[in-house]
Amino acid sequence: MTEPLDRDRHLLDLASMSRERMVGLLSRARSFDDGTGSPKHHESRRRMLVGRSVCNLFFEDSTRTRVSFSLAARGLGAGTTNLTAPGSSITKGETIVDTASNVEATGGDALVVRCSSAGAPELIARHVSVPVINAGDGSHEHPTQGLLDVYALSQALGREDSFDLTDLNIAIVGDIASSRVARSDIAAMTRLGARVVCVGPAPLAPKSLESLGCTVSADLDSVLGEVDAVQMLRLQFERHAGAKPGEKPSPPGVGSVREYRALYALTETRARLMKPGSVVMHPGPINRGLEMDGAVADGLDGGPRSIVLAQVSAGVLVRMAVLTDLLGQHG
Ligand code: CP
Repeated sequence: MTEPLDRDRHLLDLASMSRERMVGLLSRARSFDDGTGSPKHHESRRRMLVGRSVCNLFFEDSTRTRVSFSLAARGLGAGTTNLTAPGSSITKGETIVDTASNVEATGGDALVVRCSSAGAPELIARHVSVPVINAGDGSHEHPTQGLLDVYALSQALGREDSFDLTDLNIAIVGDIASSRVARSDIAAMTRLGARVVCVGPAPLAPKSLESLGCTVSADLDSVLGEVDAVQMLRLQFERHAGAKPGEKPSPPGVGSVREYRALYALTETRARLMKPGSVVMHPGPINRGLEMDGAVADGLDGGPRSIVLAQVSAGVLVRMAVLTDLLGQHG
């Protein structure tokens, strides 16, 4: 029989995280915030993880997550090591669990894991004794992204005192079936009290998502005027069955990329249907001109506010919170 895992020693998902732990991590992130969304410059902060080593095991590509984990760790005084699949012994057939165990044996104090296999960070956590942080596993979860999204949203909508999102309506739009971000966002947003609607063509936003506590719609135009925030998602062509690298075939459920854009893209015209005070989000990377117009991502005069870069900045604060929580508590 498999031993139960102490999930609070790791950060593996948000679906199983209590609201209390979630708010605790968000409050810890706020304690690092200088009031502008950037980390405070305090000498005490720079000594918090001196002598610790954070190992980034990134077996899938990343810009935001990898850079912000590195900056968060270094900003706390920790050392960092970065391993990617090319250039590691994964290419010689070493398993991801053996790789993680060997990195632990070199003295790593925490493992930050990104990979294409759903559940691999949890598998690693069962084989090592140091904290494991899921930095995105296949289409399963991306828990620090979910936390940074609700942190940035709370700040933008004046909820940062309590992180209570009660009465807010949030739409997550696009390729939800492929999206680990959507799963973590739904868990975080609903646990904090928001109503979440997932919008997309049926194969990308299936009714089965409703088991996660959200609703589902195929009609973006009927939803957009009602929401306080919209999180736009990239079409993940690389995760669609039969897609070849670099190709952009018709997304499931629509006849062409052009039709997808006509029905589901956040164009300038469509963004102007949103309520005053509402915000536009995107976890990145953005395909400008596909799921979202570049002008909307950059912020429209007289339109909804874009908090896309505030999300990225919040990522450093949230990752500082997670690292100090896991390494401080159990180091
Ligand atoms: N949002 C996100 O995970 O971005 P990266 O893939 O660049 O890390």
